[in-house]
Amino acid sequence: MRALLLCLTLLLSSSPVAAQDTIGLAAPDDVVDSGLLQHILPRFSLKTSIRVVHEPSGPMILGPSPPGEPVFRRGGITYHLRIGDDPRHQRFLDWLRSGVGKSTIDAYLPEQGQPFSARFQLPVTVNAPTFNGDVARGARLSLQHCGRCHVVGPENRLNGLGSAPSFAALRSLPDWAARFEQFFVRNPHGAFTQIVDVTPPFDPARPPPIAPVELTLDDMDAIIAHVARTRAANLGAPLAFQ
Ligand code: HEC
Repeated sequence: MRALLLCLTLLLSSSPVAAQDTIGLAAPDDVVDSGLLQHILPRFSLKTSIRVVHEPSGPMILGPSPPGEPVFRRGGITYHLRIGDDPRHQRFLDWLRSGVGKSTIDAYLPEQGQPFSARFQLPVTVNAPTFNGDVARGARLSLQHCGRCHVVGPENRLNGLGSAPSFAALRSLPDWAARFEQFFVRNPHGAFTQIVDVTPPFDPARPPPIAPVELTLDDMDAIIAHVARTRAANLGAPLAFQ
């Protein structure tokens, strides 16, 4: 018994040294519950003699979104690893992204749920343009200035000029935003539209043929933000409108 205790004491007293070589890894519950860590961490340790253990306080952090480096995916979630300056952290990251590491991850079949995939394509993120003008003001300005010719919405559904496309039809074009941003140089608007600080004043020799439209860049942002919210017309066939 004494001998056993002594053995244990020796073992325990040697553990602080071992603890220094141990790095904590925080991970989301679904990853922990899947058993993936028990599968990959010993294999990494075997290879490198660096012990990585699951530890909610880190310092390495695996999360279901950035920041960090994407390391594997499952069910539409890309898990990212955040590491510190410690070169052993970098080694762990490098291993996860090595052929061996990836194969180790891919080979693991959880008892429940889908497997993880370390050979994945990151989903392409399209930065949807944001329109942060004042939507309500944009609605008012559209009706007031553009509604003279365009059907801008249900409000003036019957008042449009036949030759002017409705805002809903324009909205359904893939490049609708560019068209609105430049509408003042596109026909027929140039002859009667002024944008403060952007367009030159009307030529006194050729006054606008109709009551002019005068807008600021803020007004334009508001109109575009409003149009962004407008429902695109369901036109069935692709528009031939130029
Ligand atoms: C006097 C009538 C009139 C007014 C006022 C008017 N438009 Fe137009 N707009 C037209 C006509 C007509 C067309 C179609 C031109 C064509 O088919 O070549 C048009 C086309 C457009 C287009 C598509 C241009 C292109 O080349 O793709 C946009 C965008 C547009 N208008 C925005 C506006 C906005 C925004 C306002 C208000 C600030 C406005 N329009 C005010 C008559 C008008």
